[in-house]
Parts: sequence; structure tokens; C-alpha cells
Amino acid sequence: MKEHEEYISQNIKRFDNTLVEFLQIPSVSAQPEHKKDIRAACEFLRNYLSRIGFSPRIIETPGHPILYAEHLKAEGKPTTLIYGHYDVQPVDPIHLWDSPPFIPVIKDGIIYARGAADDKGQLMAHVHALETFMHNGGELPINVKLVFEGEEEIASLHLDEFIEKNQEMLKSDLAIISDTAQFGKDMPALTYGLRGIAPCEVKVIGPNRDLHSGSYGGAVANPITVLCSMIAKLHDNDNRIAVDGFYDDVMPIQDWEREEFAKLPFDEMAYKRDLEVNELLGEKGYTTLERKWARPTLDCNGIFGGYMGEGQKTVLPSWAGCKITMRLVPKMDPVKVCDLLEAYLKQIAPPSVRVEVTKVSGAPAAIVSRDNPIMQAAEKALEYGFGRKPFWIREGGSIPTVNTFKELLGVDTILLGLCQPDCNAHSPNEFFGLDDFHRGIRSAVVLYKELSEMKV
Ligand code: BES
Ligand code: MN
Ligand code: MN
Repeated sequence: MKEHEEYISQNIKRFDNTLVEFLQIPSVSAQPEHKKDIRAACEFLRNYLSRIGFSPRIIETPGHPILYAEHLKAEGKPTTLIYGHYDVQPVDPIHLWDSPPFIPVIKDGIIYARGAADDKGQLMAHVHALETFMHNGGELPINVKLVFEGEEEIASLHLDEFIEKNQEMLKSDLAIISDTAQFGKDMPALTYGLRGIAPCEVKVIGPNRDLHSGSYGGAVANPITVLCSMIAKLHDNDNRIAVDGFYDDVMPIQDWEREEFAKLPFDEMAYKRDLEVNELLGEKGYTTLERKWARPTLDCNGIFGGYMGEGQKTVLPSWAGCKITMRLVPKMDPVKVCDLLEAYLKQIAPPSVRVEVTKVSGAPAAIVSRDNPIMQAAEKALEYGFGRKPFWIREGGSIPTVNTFKELLGVDTILLGLCQPDCNAHSPNEFFGLDDFHRGIRSAVVLYKELSEMKV
């Protein structure tokens, strides 16, 4: 480890600067005007990986490109996929950023920029760990296949197809992803479960055109009113989801797991303080951690309709809509829950409106067996990098490909989360602590070494 430590400390400033450069590229996958920037981020990675000894390939998809590279010289040693995403979320509301999202600022050892934590900083921790072995023609202790995609924030639209078509090329013993969080400051965590996601859009349609609300108000249903009352019927008084059949396939939380969650040093008061809310709310009968990690949920993410510009416009709108995502736990099928939601919405809609539900592609949840030996390797790696044993946690967010890796390639994923849980991913002022970045690089170095001891 000594020579690796030396390389890391000698190059650490350059690693920080490289991350700054990477973060300057506004690679927002959701917005077509950033298509060029997405490619620039992909090329940035290609160029960097070339410099450290890989021969990366940019693989085109109907959407944003995938970067693939491999290094397979450790004969008889395990092969790991390393996945990350170089796309980022949109920046709005832009006026709430203390500094421009794509002009990274380092303050008190923390780097602020869109993508700092999710996922460019975490992805780069692996790139630098790899280079720590490979510089000057050095060898890696394991075989690696790198898959860096540009569509994670838009549900990994074309990744499944790429994996499906390239199963032989991607054949591996495990996968590693750093795209989750620690449990708290100086509380490293090993994540063994993620929720899945089922998104859809709902449109409630009334009269065939916007109407004068004076002339027509009182005569026909207002789609906004109807939509709101329908949304209010999605949960019951215990905050359980009221959609018929919704809980049918849910994998219940095991007793041992509830006990483990309860032992975690979760500070509910601090959590409320951070969010400036007086009370938390969710499904009755479950603790906060249970609710956000291991119970399914349904949230309306946006609602629109009618006149939303300045001043008044007395209109009875022709339609109203909302975006909904459901978070899924293991055994739930994203297509099935969307169908159930659609049926329920159509059933509760009054005859005065028509309901249209558009389903978008989702992803099932993922769970990794805690006694898979790869998890013990990860535990040792985090203990080395962070100076203390990690907490074992689940996460409420989704990384669609974790399930695909399992289904199509048969591999489990180590979720080696490096950022803080309140890192403002998807929010203004996203940040990544440089200390966590550096600890992540060291953890990854040790992880690759630990994995090389494993029999395959
Ligand atoms: N890195 C996140 C996933 C995540 C979120 C892990 C929170 C742990 C905690 C990822 O980039 C993400 O945002 N995923 C989306 C997926 C969706 C767009 C299909 C999500 O969870 O909303
Ligand atoms: Mn991410
Ligand atoms: Mn994200």
C-alpha cells in the first residue's frame, strides 16, 4: 500500500483539479440543448482513460453515448464491472445556487457544483484508484470493465439494450458502483439495497378547449379540481397507498432488518432541523428509515394546468396533469404497479373527465446478499479508506442498472457510496467533500486488492 499511498498524495492536487475540469462540463442529460455537452463529458473521460493506459471506446446509442473500456491482464483473478454516470440533473431553480452550478467552487475543503457528488466525483474516485495501479505501465490486481453512461438521470434509457447485446463482452464476477451516500459525516456505509422506480404521467381532460371561467364556471368540471381530488385519494388516512393491489407483491421487512435499522444512529431531530419541518410523515406503523429504504411510496413530482403566467387569466382549463413516481421494493414489478395505478385512477375519476396515463420506463428494486464475500471485501476497503467500519444500510433512491446487472449478467453490485446523504444531489448547491473524494480513492484501491484475493 505504501507506494500507492505515495502516488495518491503526490497527485492529489491534480486529481482535485481534474474533477474541477470535469465538473465544468454542463452534461445535463434531460435537456436537448446540452447534447453537445454530454458528448464532451464522455470525451473528457475517454481522453483521461486513454492517458492512464486504457483503450476506451465511445459506444453510440439512439440517445447519449456509453463509454466502455477494459483491462483484462490479471489472469485467474476476478473481473469486475465498474459503472458510473457522467450525466447530471438539470440545475433549476438556478437562483438558489450560491455559485454557478458549472463553475466549481472549493470552500473549506468542499467542492460545490452540479454533479460533484452525483456522480462525477464518485466516478472519478475509481478512475484515480485505477490510475494508481496503472501509471508507468503498472498492472491492476483484478480485471476491470468500465461502463460509464450518460443517461442515468433519465432512467438509463438505452443501457439495458447495450448490456443485452454485449453480455459476452460484459461477463464479470461482480460490479462496483459509487453512486450512493454514506450514512452521515464520517459514517461510511455499505448499501445492500436500493428501491426501484415506476414513473408515469397523468392527464385529466375536461372540455375540448380552455373556457371563459365566468361564462362556463359552474357548468362543467374543472380538470384541476378533479385532478387534485384524485391525487388526494392516492393515500389513505394512514398514509398507505390506496391503489388496489399495490402492496400485493411487496417483500415485507424482516424482523432482523428492523432491529438492525433501529440500531443505526439516526438522529430524527437533526433530520427535521435540516429540513425545517416540525414533523415527519409517512406510512403508519413504520419508522422513518424503514419508510424511506424498505417500503414502497408514491409521490406526485409535479402538477400543472391552466394559466400559470403572471397576473390573472380567468380561464377554466381544458386539462390538468401531474407527474408521478412510485418507489418500489424487491419483488414489485414497475409495469404492473403502473397498470394498477392507471386502473385505480380511471375507477375514481368522475364521468365529467377523461383520464390518460402515459407510462415511462422504470426499474425494479435491487438487493445484495449481505454474506456475499464481495461485501466483506468492500467492508475492509471502507474501513481502510475511512478509518472506521461501515454501517450497513439500504437506500431509497434508484440506480436502474443494478437490477439489470443481476438479471442479465448474474452479478451482484457493491454500492460503495462516498458522498454525504445531504449532499444536495438534484438540488441547488450540490457538494462533495474533498476528504470523502480522497478517502474514496483509497477505499477503491484497497477494494481492488481485496477482491484479487477472492477465488473465482
Ligand atoms: N445516485 C442516484 C441514486 C441514489 C439516490 C442513490 C439517492 C442513493 C440515494 C441516481 O443518480 C439517481 O438519481 N437515480 C434516479 C433514477 C431515476 C431517474 C430513474 C432516482 O433515484 O431518482
Ligand atoms: Mn447518481
Ligand atoms: Mn441522480
